[in-house]
Amino acid sequence: MKTVTLATLAALPHTLLAADYVWPGEHDHMEDLYMLQSGFSRFGFIDGILTCGFNQGVPGRQNAAEWIRTAYHDMATYDTDTGLGGIDASIMFETNREENKGTAFDNTFGHLASFYSVKSGGADLLALAVVGSMAACNGYEIPLRVGRVDATEAGQAGVPEPQQDLATHTEKFKKQGFNQTEMIELVACGHTLGGVHGANFPEITHDNTTGQVSHFEYGDSNAEFDNTVVTEYLSGNTSNLLVAGTNDTLNSDKRIFSADGNATMEKLADTKYFQTRCQDVMTKMIDTVPKDIVLSEPLKAIEVKPYINLLALNSNSTIDFSGYVRVRYGKGAVHPSADDLSAFLTYKDRSGKNVTEPITTTRPNWQSGTATGFGGGYSFVFFEWTTQIDADAGISGFHIHLTTTSTGTTEVYDNVGNTYPVKDTVLYQMKQSCSLYVLNSTTNAYDGQMTITAAVRSDSVADLNMHFASKVARPGVILGRFETQVEPFVATGKSMAGYDLYKVDGMPINSDSGSTSFDISLGDEMAVEFVRTTALTGQECAEL
Ligand code: HEM
Ligand SMILES: *[C@@H]1O[C@H](CO)[C@@H](O)[C@H](O)[C@H]1NC(C)=O
Ligand SMILES: *[C@@H]1O[C@H](CO)[C@@H](O)[C@H](O)[C@H]1NC(C)=O
Ligand SMILES: *[C@@H]1O[C@H](CO)[C@@H](O)[C@H](O)[C@H]1NC(C)=O
Ligand SMILES: *[C@@H]1O[C@H](CO)[C@@H](O)[C@H](O)[C@H]1NC(C)=O
Ligand SMILES: *[C@@H]1O[C@H](CO)[C@@H](O)[C@H](O)[C@H]1NC(C)=O
Ligand SMILES: *[C@@H]1O[C@H](CO)[C@@H](O)[C@H](O)[C@H]1NC(C)=O
Ligand SMILES: *[C@@H]1O[C@H](CO)[C@@H](O)[C@H](O)[C@H]1NC(C)=O
Ligand SMILES: *[C@@H]1O[C@H](CO)[C@@H](O)[C@H](O)[C@H]1NC(C)=O
Repeated sequence: MKTVTLATLAALPHTLLAADYVWPGEHDHMEDLYMLQSGFSRFGFIDGILTCGFNQGVPGRQNAAEWIRTAYHDMATYDTDTGLGGIDASIMFETNREENKGTAFDNTFGHLASFYSVKSGGADLLALAVVGSMAACNGYEIPLRVGRVDATEAGQAGVPEPQQDLATHTEKFKKQGFNQTEMIELVACGHTLGGVHGANFPEITHDNTTGQVSHFEYGDSNAEFDNTVVTEYLSGNTSNLLVAGTNDTLNSDKRIFSADGNATMEKLADTKYFQTRCQDVMTKMIDTVPKDIVLSEPLKAIEVKPYINLLALNSNSTIDFSGYVRVRYGKGAVHPSADDLSAFLTYKDRSGKNVTEPITTTRPNWQSGTATGFGGGYSFVFFEWTTQIDADAGISGFHIHLTTTSTGTTEVYDNVGNTYPVKDTVLYQMKQSCSLYVLNSTTNAYDGQMTITAAVRSDSVADLNMHFASKVARPGVILGRFETQVEPFVATGKSMAGYDLYKVDGMPINSDSGSTSFDISLGDEMAVEFVRTTALTGQECAEL
């Protein structure tokens, strides 16, 4: 299956689409990057596109436009015959090609780099960049499916260029999986933002001054995902230099837009029709992936989602247990009002027995404890807990209780009958972990060292290993490559509260790996997963 189209999805039974979310989910991190743009516990993917327009610090730069162009150039080399290419981030390796002129591609990945991890690869982030850009520019929302796999080398060439003729372009789009109508639509949807830059195409703009850009649309319209590119074209007065350029050989939009005698463009003059067609073809663009990739269902805003921030022994020989419950509220959510909700947890000890004392939560003051997605389209409220658990009794899972204040009713969320699982056999001792970078005057790079401490139940002896996602730089490519580095933990000889303490002490890490993640395995089992290392930089390893 090369692409998942909306048509095939519609044929699936409803139950499959609405499959209940079970925590922890495979795509939790991508859902966070997608949903939490502003407010409490934000991930801030939106920061590069806080405004849709220009003014992004560099003259002539419009990130939303660059991100969409980058995604198209990545997809444009898809070949329906071989099933190779598509959105796989191979564009990272292809920036020296004539067909990929300009700094847009490196700039895009420069932004994505802050969010790049083993759970959020370059290709999925590029798809999110398109979803976000359309939302930031007031276009219709498109679904985000995930599961793309990043290419490890350059792919096939063949991105369309303006001097090529209509037959060539039609053939190229056909290879990408887009027929003539869809070709016209996709180009019109793409060329509603941004423009042609003198630095890249001086033969089109006839002006190579720094930051020069000839917008595809007059006025402020280039900063709106709208159909002005269509209506200007039909009116015969357009600022689009791929239509009205002086050298007709380079007027590729003119040839494409009129390829069917303007029939498609005339339909796209209807605002709503334009938006729904763009929704469709832009979705198809980001979901065009190599044939062996199976994409997820569209990510949905999860209604109730917990986060464990700390599960670690403290110096009182109890287990610190803290985290958040995130509840979606408002339009489209199960719960209409954040202010009408409160939450508490109940939990089971290590043996599975209910603990009678509930864990209370409070709504944080910071940002009123609320967060929103792109364009405020999703709203969430957080409830924070922090408690200590008896280390002998331990914890194996919890339930979330949500009370609607006005009615006094309490619903119990049990993670679709699974309880929300907590594994306390291995505890990641965050406060006893740290990393440090020192400038090496010989190499002029930063050499790093990381120390990770873990506590393991004394009755659960097996090999304890850290699986560190080392980020290895690739010359000329913005995103590094992840390489799993397995490091054995060594017993420190210290024991407390039924746990033995272990350390990976002073493991050397390269300067690209300051912000990455690791897992901890005990024997054959993953005991702790996807620990982000960013917070460890500069933190001292505290004594326990
Ligand atoms: C025959 C097909 C196409 C050709 C020949 C073409 C050509 C061009 C050219 C020459 C530019 C100017 C780039 C620069 O100066 O930086 C441009 C910009 C752009 N293109 Fe296309 N394009 C095509 C299709 C598409 C498609 C299908 C999309 C997306 C769906 C797209 C999205 C964009 C965007 C967003 C920009 C503005 C970039 C910016 O302002 O930084 N293009 N295109
Ligand atoms: C392209 O495909 C769409 C449906 O996928 C169809 O409605 C349209 O008529 C096709 N256009 C051409 C030129 O075949
Ligand atoms: C800009 O164009 C002028 C005139 O063609 C040329 O002399 C100059 O080298 C160009 N500058 C750049 C940065 O390309
Ligand atoms: C074309 O449209 C622009 C923007 O609406 C306007 O400023 C300009 O005067 C128009 N030019 C012609 C020749 O009508
Ligand atoms: C128009 O563009 C084509 C393709 O780049 C080029 O070969 C040709 O010389 C250009 N014509 C003029 C008059 O500049
Ligand atoms: C399509 O629209 C353009 C712009 O109005 C016009 O110049 C051209 O003649 C039209 N083509 C056809 C085949 O109607
Ligand atoms: C240890 O317990 C005391 C008394 O309950 C409490 O005040 C203190 O904050 C606890 N320390 C830690 C590290 O939890
Ligand atoms: C444990 O608590 C959950 C909900 O808090 C409840 O559904 C379950 O019946 C309880 N189990 C026992 C054995 O009391
Ligand atoms: C600096 O880097 C060089 C080359 O990797 C290495 O041999 C040397 O030990 C480093 N210096 C220090 C002070 O770590």
